[in-house]
Amino acid sequence: MKIFKTRRELQSFALAEKRAGRTIGFVPTMGYLHAGHMSLIDIAREKADTVIVSVFVNPTQFGPEEDFDRYPRDFERDMALCKEHGADAVFAPETGEMYDADATTWVEEKKLSGPLCGASRPCFFRGVTTVVAKLFNLAQPDFAVFGWKDAQQLLVIRRMVRDLDFPVTVIGAPLVRDTDGLALSSRNRYLSSDERARALTIHKSLLGVRKRIEEAGNIGALETALAEARSAVSASGGRIDYVTALDLDTLEAPTPQSEGLLVAAAVFYGTTRLIDNEVIQFKK
Ligand code: PAF
Repeated sequence: MKIFKTRRELQSFALAEKRAGRTIGFVPTMGYLHAGHMSLIDIAREKADTVIVSVFVNPTQFGPEEDFDRYPRDFERDMALCKEHGADAVFAPETGEMYDADATTWVEEKKLSGPLCGASRPCFFRGVTTVVAKLFNLAQPDFAVFGWKDAQQLLVIRRMVRDLDFPVTVIGAPLVRDTDGLALSSRNRYLSSDERARALTIHKSLLGVRKRIEEAGNIGALETALAEARSAVSASGGRIDYVTALDLDTLEAPTPQSEGLLVAAAVFYGTTRLIDNEVIQFKK
């Protein structure tokens, strides 16, 4: 498995792979890999001739008060896992390598990135779309795999790819949970065992909303179901950023015409902000 530290090395490798007629599957990550990331690498491995994984904690998607400095990192373990899952190359640049010091160009999606995490983390999606656009130009992927765990991120990336004509197929991979139901996240390691036990309420509450909506087959009971979910999360000691449901296509308020719902939550336990979601498709 090759490990590239510079943008030019990665781009030369990727362009040579393309010239040789090989398809490229790409998995962008911020490292501290877990089984959720492995599932993305496995999908890329099935789809493409050459698999590239990036491991880069991207400073531009963190706000000034956020956890960029203490974001967990474990380079050796990440490399071992990538190798075990059949990655051909890993791109792991130092922070200073990724952006030119006087860079002045941003990629910004202006609609789907507005609500949910975009409302509480104003720099976040601009940082994500900018780094992912750069990574696409460097890794030249035919396929890029993103998890449904970060559902809004997946929708924003799909929109960017469509709007800017990137020749990349974006694959959404199912959210992976721990055996107790907690959505896997590199940030779970910040949780104390007590916080972790209480955080299971997020998933249980979202499942409660799913059950109510699926039983009704429409959004009639949505507000009541969301109110119950919010009460349960608050009672567990979670500080709610949002527990809400939006139209899956527009990320606007759902209507009776909505074909799908994104029921999504962002909740703090202690200082750790966790996100989770359930996607509900209506049969129309
Ligand atoms: O989902 C992530 O880990 C990051 O947002 C991504 C897509 C690697 C961009 O830095």
